[in-house]
Amino acid sequence: MNKVNELNIFLKNKDARFILEYFIKSYSGKTAFSTSFSIEDQVITHILSELTLQPKIFTLDTGRLPEETYKIIDRTRESYGVDIEIYFPNFDSVEKMVREKGVNLFYNSIEDRKLCCHVRKIEPLKRALKGFEVWITGLRREQSITRKNINVVEYDDINQIIKVNPLFNWTEEDVWDYIRKNNIPYNSLYDKNYKSIGCEPCTRAVRPNEDIRAGRWWWENPETKECRLHLACLNSSRMSTGFGGHDKEELFEKQK
Ligand code: ADX
Ligand code: SF4
Repeated sequence: MNKVNELNIFLKNKDARFILEYFIKSYSGKTAFSTSFSIEDQVITHILSELTLQPKIFTLDTGRLPEETYKIIDRTRESYGVDIEIYFPNFDSVEKMVREKGVNLFYNSIEDRKLCCHVRKIEPLKRALKGFEVWITGLRREQSITRKNINVVEYDDINQIIKVNPLFNWTEEDVWDYIRKNNIPYNSLYDKNYKSIGCEPCTRAVRPNEDIRAGRWWWENPETKECRLHLACLNSSRMSTGFGGHDKEELFEKQK
């Protein structure tokens, strides 16, 4: 039985706090937590703030985040007094990409969207995780069909790191209950019907009957909607074709 299976058996039925503490202690100085300041990540930050030992906490600033996300970054730092490292994309790569493809290239094609995610997220993530052995995320099974099989511990081949998802089996209601009970600050976009928040041009609000990630890259096929940050979540490589050259409102209208 490999290490990942062993850990999954050992951590079965353990709560998020136990899981976090276990990895931070066992892999002291080698554990990193990536936060996008989602409600899930805010729950994790809250739990971490109560522990004595801390992992490295970092975020990837793509340069295209909504203003509301920048506000919650500072509010989280102030509320919890935690150190959050901010990683930016390589400026040479961004300059080359937008010079060749335009600033809003993600609407052109799936390939261009993936290129943008690669430059603005995947490469900085690789840098942020370099030298670390454990990567903590806020992924949950319920978030999308691409995530329904994730476990508390996985192995990320791309970054060659143990990936830990302490909230993997939490429901959306569990997360909100925890947020309210503990008065945890959250991104104000959630109060405007956003349910999953990424970059501003690639995220929109969702209607009541839509699933959690319907507002992310909403012009793509739900079975393949991952930015490849979480490649292991993708069990199919089928991609839909994009609507080229339209703005967000136009694309939103298309969905109605
Ligand atoms: S994404 O791949 O579609 O963007 P999602 O927004 O659901 O991911 O977030 C899932 C987890 O990925 C978060 O809990 C966080 O650990 C990590 N993550 C996503 N975006 C970022 C970011 N910009 N910076 C740091 N971590 C991120
Ligand atoms: Fe680029 Fe959109 Fe991916 Fe952000 S989510 S990196 S803007 S394609």
